[in-house]
Amino acid sequence: MIDVTEIRKDFPILKREVNGKPLVYLDNAATSQTPQQVIDVIVDYYQNYNANIHRGVHALSQEATDKYEVARQKIQKHFNAKNSYEIIFTSGTTHSINIVANGFTTLLEKGDEILVSAMEHHSNIVPWQMLAERTGAVLKVIPMNLAGELLMDVYDELLSNKTKLVFCNHISNALGTINPIKEIIDKAHAVGAAVLIDGAQAAPHIKADVQKLDVDFYTVSAHKMCGPTGEGMLYGKEEWLNKLPPYQGGGEMIAEVTFEKTTYADLPHKFEAGTPNICGGIAFGAALDYMNAIGFEAIAAYEHELLEYATQELLKIEGLKIYGTAKNKTSVISFNIEGLHPYDIGSILDKLGVAVRTGHHCAQPIMDFYKIPGTVRASFSFYNTMDEVDVLVKAVLRAKGMLE
Ligand code: ALA
Repeated sequence: MIDVTEIRKDFPILKREVNGKPLVYLDNAATSQTPQQVIDVIVDYYQNYNANIHRGVHALSQEATDKYEVARQKIQKHFNAKNSYEIIFTSGTTHSINIVANGFTTLLEKGDEILVSAMEHHSNIVPWQMLAERTGAVLKVIPMNLAGELLMDVYDELLSNKTKLVFCNHISNALGTINPIKEIIDKAHAVGAAVLIDGAQAAPHIKADVQKLDVDFYTVSAHKMCGPTGEGMLYGKEEWLNKLPPYQGGGEMIAEVTFEKTTYADLPHKFEAGTPNICGGIAFGAALDYMNAIGFEAIAAYEHELLEYATQELLKIEGLKIYGTAKNKTSVISFNIEGLHPYDIGSILDKLGVAVRTGHHCAQPIMDFYKIPGTVRASFSFYNTMDEVDVLVKAVLRAKGMLE
């Protein structure tokens, strides 16, 4: 059970006002807020042991290195990776996906097929389009229905021995759909294709077990799960990470450098050129500690209650339509009100202290599918309250009254 009153005390930002009103922060799918426990870890790093890692013999460097590698182990444990070197620190999901998309340049041939779901964020579309352009591979789309659920029978038809890669998000950022990723992975493996699951929106809600899923690549951004921005991870199976060439060249990723030839470092360093976001990695580990102390089952159960209540109350508003009504859904509600522009609604909500995202949510193909310019998106976290749902609903009604 979540004690939301206690939990909210951990988040200093939730005490602030916006436009003279108490902040109601419902843009968690864009970025989550940071608890004091994680802020303290960030401050502690810069106050007490800021140093470059894996390089210095001095005490500060060793302390920073130890803490950074402990964070890697925490991430490994959380996602149940077999080895800590299968966890690559990145700047976030976009960076993680680009490492894989770049790596496959030498592994694909003209005519190979890449499947991508119809409900992807641009970060899980554009790198594959660029890969297809470089290699002559063909990008095909797994379609979805109006509820925002993938058409798995069409997926079956699309899969063939030409399919080399399948990309899908675990949870859609714009619709909240929880995709049947185990089925997607197993079916792709049956034709010999590798699978990358974009876990950016899932990781704040669901504890994914990469070994149980048997997924080849899984990507996460720390800032969506109580950690800092500019930090994330790429999980890759050892065999795949060994096959892929490095994404960037530089310090730290080498074994030996001469002007004639460079050999690369072992995993994970092969993919970690340059000085990383050391503090970010350590704080990512702290964010996982924080969320695990609350417990992912309790988080999911409470967020489901928030979703059900908010859906029920919002649907009482005349003319309001929710996009994304999948049976299996997380606490994201994308909606529009007939005749009103989402941007106008979002701007009035902001004046009333309610933070939501408006627009295409970096998922223009989804908006094209529904033939809309965008939506208003309220996304809930475990620190939101039922009272905040009431504030949202009242604010939407007020906006509607002002705009009609
Ligand atoms: N991907 C983030 C979102 O959905 C930024 O808002």
